[in-house]
Amino acid sequence: MFFALIADEINIAKIRENIFNLSDEELIKSAKLLNLVPIPSNKYELEELIKNISPDYEKYPTTDKRIQLGKKLFFDPRLSRSGIISCNTCHNLALGGVDGIGASTGHKWQANSSHLNAPSVYNAVFNARQFWDGRINHLKEQAKGPLQANVEMASSSDDLVAKIKSIPEYVDEFKKAYSNDIDIDFDLIAASIGIFERTLITPSSFDEFLEGDINALTSTQKQGLKLFINKGCVMCHNGINIGGAFRGFGFNRYQYVNYGDFRGNENNRVKVPSLRNVAKTAPYFHNGSVWTLVEAVESMARIQLAIELSEEEIKDIIAFLKSLSGKMPQIVYPELPASSDETIRPRLDY
Ligand code: HEC
Ligand code: HEC
Repeated sequence: MFFALIADEINIAKIRENIFNLSDEELIKSAKLLNLVPIPSNKYELEELIKNISPDYEKYPTTDKRIQLGKKLFFDPRLSRSGIISCNTCHNLALGGVDGIGASTGHKWQANSSHLNAPSVYNAVFNARQFWDGRINHLKEQAKGPLQANVEMASSSDDLVAKIKSIPEYVDEFKKAYSNDIDIDFDLIAASIGIFERTLITPSSFDEFLEGDINALTSTQKQGLKLFINKGCVMCHNGINIGGAFRGFGFNRYQYVNYGDFRGNENNRVKVPSLRNVAKTAPYFHNGSVWTLVEAVESMARIQLAIELSEEEIKDIIAFLKSLSGKMPQIVYPELPASSDETIRPRLDY
């Protein structure tokens, strides 16, 4: 085992060193050896993958009715105490799944107390870990956070369940999506939103490239990919989400360290974010302190790798990052069921 590990490390170092001499076919092979993984274009394969990585899939398999229900809940601002904040407020699906502001802002116009930036919900299903400190690995458990957080949607779980139960069409839809005697509780509401999130997947030209289409990337993008590998970005940003799996370091050399009080997990480590659609999700980093990809890439080289990149190298890497801008799923804006006389009214807490 020990020797195997060393052998692997030598191989990785060799691949990185030789990457500029490779043909397109060899580049694809090497990228895969370095754990860059495509979103499968085959629908069946994709569903199998999602099944394997979703901890609650067995209990709650994806069905069309559940997706439609979860979509309504995702877009329904009544899930918040004020009645005006939905998941889509901060994870705007028309805007790359983010809000595009530095610190996310929720109930009573409060900014996130640690100045945290909203990561995208697109492809979040592929994250082995959720949140900037990577504390949760589960979309269902994740969704419970913002629904209740005071600075986000500020709803109590009891209020939330009461609201849903007061809307006859929702009750009916839960029955149709699950079973006639289903008990609508907080867990099931969160699970339904998580099931919708399983569909928020954006395959890109990089995936086509990894699946063997050597013309899917431009020559500048291929050069950027080679730099991404050669310089070592790939050591942290890998897997199907080109990130999302584990935590990198960052604070000791971080220029904007005092922008907000977030310091990562107990070991001061930050989750390595996914780079899918990164060209659409400025501002960057956990605290939204950086607005341009040029500065983000330049800082990464300095902070994480202790190297300097030339302007040309940064340009090529950014060209590669743009190949991660994927095809967004077409989402029809849902019509939400009407409240009833019993539905708890909005509370803005002025
Ligand atoms: C007020 C803005 C706001 C609202 C509303 C909100 N979120 Fe978030 N979301 C955030 C922020 C900020 C983070 C990062 C928090 C952290 O890391 O601690 C986050 C993190 C996430 C993540 C983790 C992604 C990753 O890469 O780590 C997912 C998934 C997510 N939210 C889904 C949802 C869902 C589903 C809802 C609705 C139930 C929702 N959010 C409502 C701001 C918001
Ligand atoms: C040692 C691990 C590691 C290496 C190596 C690394 N990164 Fe990162 N990357 C991270 C972490 C951790 C963050 C989040 C930092 C934060 O938010 O404070 C990040 C964030 C980013 C972001 C911002 C994403 C967002 O949505 O906010 C970009 C862009 C990025 N990295 C690109 C690169 C490039 C390009 C390289 C190579 C030059 C690279 N990274 C090397 C760990 C790494």
